[in-house]
Amino acid sequence: MLDLQLWLLPQTGVEMTGFNDTLPLESTSSFRPNSFPTSWSRALWLSSPDRVYANFAQIIECLREFLASTEGLIPETNQIVRVLHYLDMKTTEYVLVDYSHLSMEAVHFLLDASLRLWDWPKVRKEIEHNIKEEKGLKTRGVPHLEIMRQGYRNELRIETDGRAMGPATKAFLGKLRKTFRTESKGFLCGALVALEGTAIPEFHTLDKIVTHYCQLNGQTGYAGKVAEYIDGHKDFEIGHEQGLIDSVERYITPDQQFKFIKGYLAVCLTLAEWWRQMAADRMVGVISKF
Ligand SMILES: [Fe+2]
Ligand SMILES: [Fe+2]
Repeated sequence: MLDLQLWLLPQTGVEMTGFNDTLPLESTSSFRPNSFPTSWSRALWLSSPDRVYANFAQIIECLREFLASTEGLIPETNQIVRVLHYLDMKTTEYVLVDYSHLSMEAVHFLLDASLRLWDWPKVRKEIEHNIKEEKGLKTRGVPHLEIMRQGYRNELRIETDGRAMGPATKAFLGKLRKTFRTESKGFLCGALVALEGTAIPEFHTLDKIVTHYCQLNGQTGYAGKVAEYIDGHKDFEIGHEQGLIDSVERYITPDQQFKFIKGYLAVCLTLAEWWRQMAADRMVGVISKF
């Protein structure tokens, strides 16, 4: 049984002093997730077995609210976007290469999840549909990754093949790989919904990073395959998230409910920590230049 506290907290180094003081677990009516000071306390509150949810729709509403209010997961609070002004072309390129590693792994996460969810056919079918899209179902048979690689290479002069990733990205992808191979199907479904849900604002974040890179390169913005890759995903991902939510609902019985919630929260927190760490690493680099 995966436990959010045990699974996540030791890996982050986040200071938890005074944590319990902020958790009025009995009160489910007057407290909203945003009343809490940190993503960590909100996550524990939302996943507390004492908490009562009226229905699946309310769970999704609370989780979406959590996503939108977690620092890093939307462009308005994303740490890299906040420090973009300080990043030169080379540093921005490294961020884009790091992000390309997530894009390259994501389809493998879906495949791992679909194998594990072999006996939850509605979810499996939905994941397989998303994999077909990744392979080019709506893009003339050209896989999304190829559109990204060609666009970055030919239009931005950024090679993504064979590139090393930073230590934060390596650790982050290792955690996600483990998550998408978990045996808990409820946890896995929560993780999948979070992966698709976070991808929607993430492509708006990517838009800002790529635009910054283009401006440093003397261009006003991007077009061509880069635009097809980034703007296309702003649409694709909305359908992916909703399709998954619709397909998992029937399987999230009361005994799966908190596993689902924890899977969702775990992916959100892991992503948020990755963005924070990437920004911190880049800024140490900026400050250390002399
Ligand atoms: Fe895609
Ligand atoms: Fe997707």
